[in-house]
Amino acid sequence: MKTPRILMCPPDYYGIEYEINPWMSRARGASPARARKQWRDLHDALLSLDVTIELMTPQKGLPDLVFTANAGLVFGTRFFSSQFAHPERQRETPYFDAWFAEHGFTVEHLPEGVFFEGAGDALFCGETLYAGYRIRSHAAGHIHLGDVLQRRVLPVELVDKRFYHLDTCFCPLAPGQAIYFPDAFDSYGRTVLEQHIPRLIAVDEKEAERFACNAVVVGKRVVINTGSDRLAADLLRAGYECRFVELDEFIKAGGSAKCLTLRLDGEDAATW
Ligand code: ARG
Repeated sequence: MKTPRILMCPPDYYGIEYEINPWMSRARGASPARARKQWRDLHDALLSLDVTIELMTPQKGLPDLVFTANAGLVFGTRFFSSQFAHPERQRETPYFDAWFAEHGFTVEHLPEGVFFEGAGDALFCGETLYAGYRIRSHAAGHIHLGDVLQRRVLPVELVDKRFYHLDTCFCPLAPGQAIYFPDAFDSYGRTVLEQHIPRLIAVDEKEAERFACNAVVVGKRVVINTGSDRLAADLLRAGYECRFVELDEFIKAGGSAKCLTLRLDGEDAATW
């Protein structure tokens, strides 16, 4: 297994400053000290799995920059920059683009007017790109990527506002194997997943709400928020070991382990 590389951004300016998903409430702000500790614990858990971590410089006034999964989609040395649905997050794009340009990636853009929120909504499982649309990303952006990358794209509609990015309800483990929360999809989407991914592990609503699907997969290790014991038992039976990190400060913004990371060795995403 080659050493996975992951991009993270320290939570120096993290907070709940606006409300763009049902998890966020300015009345229920984040604790900076707890957030810093939880982020550090995630960082250290990944380091202990021999992941190489690259760090972005945090920026004042950009509280969600910590969610690097939304920077864009990495494919080899190509970086397809996100086009955020909300103006609050559109301001992050110049910082992500600059980081990728400075680190040897070619920065590419999707057609104008198309919303696309990167590895939050576009996830490879094997050779196929699974693409969440409607709440944050347009299906057209995913189709465009499929053409450019010459990969099959399977768009799935996200129908529950709590699970507004694909990575909140779907997590590839390996080619042909993934975790999902069935109720986040309509029956068509569920059928697409069930027909193309032979080994699917379903999580229940209680664990889905603890962001059980928002996992960082490193080989046979799965790093997730605490409180998903049922999933951990199912994963163990499938040959995976869970590492829990308390991340409730980030759930206040609608994110967890996976959202706080972006794989830089992109197209191998599901094959660690
Ligand atoms: N507050 C952020 C937003 O609503 C959270 C992003 C979580 N990222 C993710 N990949 N699911 O955009």
